[in-house]
Amino acid sequence: MRKIVRAFAPATVANVSCGFDVLGLALEGIGDIIELSLQEKKEITISEIVNGGKISLDPQKNSCSAVIKDILKELSIEIGINIRIIKGYRSGSGLGSSAASSAAAAVAINEMLNLNYDKTNLVKFAMEGERIACGTPHADNVAAAIFGGISLVKEENPLEIVKLPVPDELHISILFPDIKLETSFSRKVLSKKIELKTASKQWGNLASFVSGLYQSDYELISRSMKDEIAEEKRAKLIPAYYQMKNAALKNGALGLGISGSGPTVFALVKGEEEAYNVKKAMEEAFHSSKLNFESFISKIRLNGAEVINSSNEDYYEIYQYKKQVEYCKL
Ligand code: HSE
Repeated sequence: MRKIVRAFAPATVANVSCGFDVLGLALEGIGDIIELSLQEKKEITISEIVNGGKISLDPQKNSCSAVIKDILKELSIEIGINIRIIKGYRSGSGLGSSAASSAAAAVAINEMLNLNYDKTNLVKFAMEGERIACGTPHADNVAAAIFGGISLVKEENPLEIVKLPVPDELHISILFPDIKLETSFSRKVLSKKIELKTASKQWGNLASFVSGLYQSDYELISRSMKDEIAEEKRAKLIPAYYQMKNAALKNGALGLGISGSGPTVFALVKGEEEAYNVKKAMEEAFHSSKLNFESFISKIRLNGAEVINSSNEDYYEIYQYKKQVEYCKL
């Protein structure tokens, strides 16, 4: 048993337009760090949430403590653990903030107690954190955070995750408007029923998107980036959404969609320079909203959540995306 363990998990883009609740991808250079320390008193406590904003220190309301409690309960282990959370970005962004913390917590406790759970089991535990954070234990963000790359939730019960190939030139342009959208709210605006015709369009695009990934066929990926389920309803919650989409497509994006439940929007782009151009076009289009935003480009992070073995506090720097982010304060 290790006394202190730190783990990092990346931010993620869920849905990826055509894969509502089943597709997710991991981003580079942005994510959360969780530090677990064994303690004498047999309780789960949270001593600090760095950059946590209004996130509660109450272990009953926190996704990391939910994950840890769930694992300890499953194994009937009674120990005391203190949690320290270092948020790389804020919650309510649509970049899988609660998922990154939950995933890092699952990986950290797995290492601390030498449990040897495989990634699928870690996703299962991390989903418990999602239940606390947004009311529904969906797996798309946590699967991408733990597996890395691009992942597909084939089924939630029994849980099965399929890791998909990542075409080498794929980049992501991200724009994160300075507004907060809770997942629970963004889910409420969706229709509970969908027409058969709409559903078949969605799974046609999802299947061709996956095929595009396997063949590195960027044109097919582009033609498949359609969201029949959530875009129309959620776009209304994101200022200048269609202006950003038109600008991104005009400037060479393969597609643009809402990251998870929003408000962040993401564009998939072939090539780094092209991704910068698309990001710039998105920024210009967003200016009409007169809101602040953050933006950056990223490749897809191939590795998922991992234990940080450095005792050096420099790792805070390594995983802070602040350096590459452009802030726009009006
Ligand atoms: N698939 C979920 C949704 C992701 O779109 O509601 C939440 O971040």
